[in-house]
Amino acid sequence: MTILVTGGAGFIGSNFVLDWFKTSDEPVVNLDALTYAGNLANLASLGRDARHIFVKGDIGDRALLEGLLAAHKPRAVIHFAAESHVDRSIHGPGAFMKTNIDGTFTLLEATRGHWSGLAADDKASFRFHHVSTDEVYGSLAPHAPAFTETHPYEPNSPYSASKAASDHLVRAWHHTYGLPVLTTNCSNNYGPFHFPEKLTPLMIVNALAGKPLPVYGDGQQIRDWLYVTDHCSGIRAVLAGGRLGETYNIGGWNEKANIDIVKTVCALLDELRPDPAGPYARLITYVTDRPGHDRRYAIDAHKIERELGWRPAETFETGIRKTVIWYLANADWVADVQSGAYRAWVDQQYG
Ligand code: NAD
Ligand code: TYD
Repeated sequence: MTILVTGGAGFIGSNFVLDWFKTSDEPVVNLDALTYAGNLANLASLGRDARHIFVKGDIGDRALLEGLLAAHKPRAVIHFAAESHVDRSIHGPGAFMKTNIDGTFTLLEATRGHWSGLAADDKASFRFHHVSTDEVYGSLAPHAPAFTETHPYEPNSPYSASKAASDHLVRAWHHTYGLPVLTTNCSNNYGPFHFPEKLTPLMIVNALAGKPLPVYGDGQQIRDWLYVTDHCSGIRAVLAGGRLGETYNIGGWNEKANIDIVKTVCALLDELRPDPAGPYARLITYVTDRPGHDRRYAIDAHKIERELGWRPAETFETGIRKTVIWYLANADWVADVQSGAYRAWVDQQYG
C-alpha cells in the first residue's frame, strides 16, 4: 500500500510526511513542484529512506499524474499542494487560480480516472483527502460563534476564494462521480519549517535579525492557532475514519489577537536568546493594514472530536515554545530559505 501526497515539501506537507513515518511504514509518493515555498531541506532527516519517493512536478500536469497513479497505485491521495499566502494572492492572484483551482481540477480528474479502473474492494477503500482552510468561511464578528462545518462560504481574499472554489470542486466530484472524498478545513498552523513570510516565523526571524516586527493595522485581528503536528494527526484521523463526502473542521481552540502572538514570541526570545540592546518588543512596528483583512477566524472542532475522538496534543503555550526553540536551533534552515527570491518578496511587501 502507498499514499500519494501533493505539496509534501511545503510547511504542513513536510511535517505530515515526517510524522507519517513515525507511525507507519507505508510508502509516500511526494509530488511537489518546489515553488518558492517548497523545500527539500524540510525532508533532509529522511535521508535516502526508501519509503519516501520524491517526484518534482506540477499537479496541473495530467500526464505526470496519470503515470504516477498507474505506477504506484496509491490507496489515497492527500492534497496539500497550493499557493498559500494571502498577501501574495493580493499582489498576484493568477498563480492561486492556476494551482488551487485548475490544479485541483486536474488532480481530481486524474484521480477519478485511476479510481474508476480499480477493483471493487480497492475502489471502496480509496480516499481523496483535500486539505483546506477555515478562511473559506470569511470573517467572524467579535462574539459570533466559531465556524462549524455548515457555516456559509464567504471567502474574502483571492487565496480564500481559490481554496473555496477547490472545496466546491471536491464536493462536486463526490456527488456527481462518487469519488470517495474527505475535506478538512483547518485554522492557522504554526511550527517547524514554516516559511518566514507568515506571521509567526516572520516575527521570530526579524526579531533575531534586529529588524522591525510589522503588525498590520491595529494588530487586533484574531486567528485560531494550531500546532502543525496536531493538524497532521487530525488529517490522519479523518483519513482513517472520516465519513465519505463529509467536511471536518480542525482547530486548537486557541483564539489570539495578532499583537498577542507577536508579544508572546518577543517574551520567549527575551527568555531564550536575550538581546543586549533591550526587549524584542521594542521592534514592534504598526504598518498599513492588509486590504480586505479578515478580522476574526475561529474553529468549532466539536465534530472531529465527537466522531473521531481527535483532540490537539499541544496547548498554545507548549506549541509556541517548541516553535521558537526550533527556529533558534535551525538558523541554517532559515538562512537557506532566505534566498534572493525571498528578499525580493520582503522588499515588495514591506518596502
Ligand atoms: P506552503 O505554501 O508552505 O506549501 C505548499 C507546497 O505546495 C509547496 O511545497 C509548494 O512547492 C507546493 N506547490 C505549490 N504549487 C504546486 C503545484 N502547482 N504543483 C505541485 N506542488 C505545488 O503551504 P502550507 O502552509 O504547507 O499549506 C498546505 C495546505 O494546507 C494548503 O492547501 C493550504 O491551503 C492548507 N492550509 C494551510 C494552513 C496554514 O496555516 N498554513 C491552514 C489551513 C490549511
Ligand atoms: P498570515 O500568517 O499571513 O496568515 P493568514 O493571513 O492566512 O491568517 O497572517 C496571520 C495574521 O497576521 C493575519 O491577520 C495578518 C497578520 N500579519 C501581520 O500583522 N504582519 C505580517 O507581517 C504578516 C505576514 C501577517
